[in-house]
Amino acid sequence: MSELIKITNLRKTYDGKRYVLDGLNFSIGKGEIKTIFGASGCGKSTFLNIVGLLDNYTSGEYLFCETNINPKRLNDYYKYRAQDIGFIFQSYFLIDSLSVNDNILMPFLYNEIDLSGSVKKTVDKLLDSFDMLSLKNKKVSLLSGGERQRVAIMRAIIKEPKLIIADEPTGNLDESNTELVVKAFKDIAEKGTAVIVVTHNKFLSFGTDTTYTLRGGKLYNE
Ligand SMILES: Nc1ncnc2c1ncn2[C@@H]1O[C@H](COP(=O)(O)OP(=O)(O)OP(=O)(O)O)[C@@H](O)[C@H]1O
Ligand SMILES: [Mg+2]
Repeated sequence: MSELIKITNLRKTYDGKRYVLDGLNFSIGKGEIKTIFGASGCGKSTFLNIVGLLDNYTSGEYLFCETNINPKRLNDYYKYRAQDIGFIFQSYFLIDSLSVNDNILMPFLYNEIDLSGSVKKTVDKLLDSFDMLSLKNKKVSLLSGGERQRVAIMRAIIKEPKLIIADEPTGNLDESNTELVVKAFKDIAEKGTAVIVVTHNKFLSFGTDTTYTLRGGKLYNE
């Protein structure tokens, strides 16, 4: 089976001296969920930003959908970012002045897909599954941290991307909402989306996932 992502001997330095990532290898295929643990500051967000084509790497090889990613030409991969990758950031990056509904529909603003009735129905279904239907028209600035987090997750899921990258997606959630997120990720993985989750939460488990620890700039399968 061809991999969605294959990363070989990846290195990343911000300052030219210290390598935050130092010879890291990673791959993920359709429908797989992979979980990455690691101490604060070990480079998890750095790794996800590179995988999400938001930041360049210093050396190594990165294949996304069999395309060799040139770290000096990240602008060329606009379509991948817009259509194929759903990013759930550690700090959410929602638009405060817009409603929950409009934030979830954000990905479609950048794609040439019209907001047909079926997309709108999908939003309602998603909102319901995340127990947030009653908040649909509320401004995001008025939501709690956990509610914002769920909006960010729905925004990533709605376009059914090839890959979801989630940076600490349950950091602000209680147990029952964490279960909703686990279920949502498992459901979308079943439809073929690959999911990479970074977390500090040792209890976060998807049952079928492979877990890694990022240490000393490398990923260890453990
Ligand atoms: N833009 C940047 N410029 C310079 N150094 C950076 C930059 N971003 C991150 N770093 C450094 O790289 C290292 C890894 O940071 P990163 O944010 O990837 O860690 P993390 O594992 O995500 O941590 P946390 O669990 O706290 O979110 C840290 O030492 C950080 O200070
Ligand atoms: Mg981080």
